[in-house]
Amino acid sequence: MSSLEQRFPNKRILITGATSGLGKAFALEFARRGWRIAVTGLDAAEIMETAEAVRSAGGEALEMVLDVTRCEHFEAAAQRVTQAWHGLDVLINNAGVSDAGRMDGELTLDNWRLLMDVNVWSVVYGCRTFIPVLKKVGGGHILNVASGAGLGCLPEMASYNATKAAVVAISATLKTELITDDIDVTCACPTAFRSNIANNDRVRQCTSVAGKGIMEEIKRTKVTAESVAQYIIRSMEKGKLFSLPQADARAMWAASRWMPEKYRNLLTYLFNKRMWLFAPGK
Ligand SMILES: NC(=O)c1ccc[n+]([C@@H]2O[C@H](COP(=O)([O-])OP(=O)(O)OC[C@H]3O[C@@H](n4cnc5c(N)ncnc54)[C@H](OP(=O)(O)O)[C@@H]3O)[C@@H](O)[C@H]2O)c1
Repeated sequence: MSSLEQRFPNKRILITGATSGLGKAFALEFARRGWRIAVTGLDAAEIMETAEAVRSAGGEALEMVLDVTRCEHFEAAAQRVTQAWHGLDVLINNAGVSDAGRMDGELTLDNWRLLMDVNVWSVVYGCRTFIPVLKKVGGGHILNVASGAGLGCLPEMASYNATKAAVVAISATLKTELITDDIDVTCACPTAFRSNIANNDRVRQCTSVAGKGIMEEIKRTKVTAESVAQYIIRSMEKGKLFSLPQADARAMWAASRWMPEKYRNLLTYLFNKRMWLFAPGK
């Protein structure tokens, strides 16, 4: 295992959705390691605030507004890092939004489109734009943040599950495809950790039992974004394709792959009986 600093002495990284939760935790962790960080997000004031925190923690910050649903924003970001730093070493496709609800109920087509745009197209735009940049400097590392949801497929979360499963598939494909370019790929699949993800209005108003249960879990869990970020960085250093920071993610991964029918029967039983995550408010 070699540290990311040994592999990438120029220490140049871009993080999407760096103004909150896991993205901010990555930014501060890389800042403590002395990296140059392109701090990107939607809100200019929050970007400035995060960039200040990065500088205080020992990193260098390049602020930029980057809406991940817009390919031209990725292209502008690639130009900025090329001008400022002559390239990039690590790309973290982190920005994401969640949603929940039944397929025949709360999950409207507009909700589906939003999730596809923010969670899937962002990764496509990011990879397509930055693979040539990484190739130009002789290699790099792409980290795509998916979710345990993309492996475990809990009920009443079809859009979120589908988008994160797509990120898993893109990452696995690229891991092999990019090997000759010396570009490594890691796909992070955390389960619940504390962040702002459950605070958007759509999610707050969601009435589905599974959706509510999972959002309550995110609010109640003691797992921090910082501990998840540190685990994922260690996975990148080990050259892992999958980074599964929590035990429930690892259990779901193993069960859904080795015993797919039994795993689905168990989930169906728990859902029908309103047990485990499917008993919100208990
Ligand atoms: N928290 C969990 O339990 C959990 C579990 C598994 C996976 N994840 C994944 O972890 C990643 C980070 O989420 P988080 O939990 O840290 O949530 P968070 O605190 O809500 O952070 C998400 C970040 O993405 C940004 N973002 C949203 N839409 C964007 C857009 N169109 N363009 C650019 N940035 C955008 C947000 O900006 P604004 O704040 O300005 O909207 C925010 O900075 C996501 O991919 C999520 O799916 C989270």
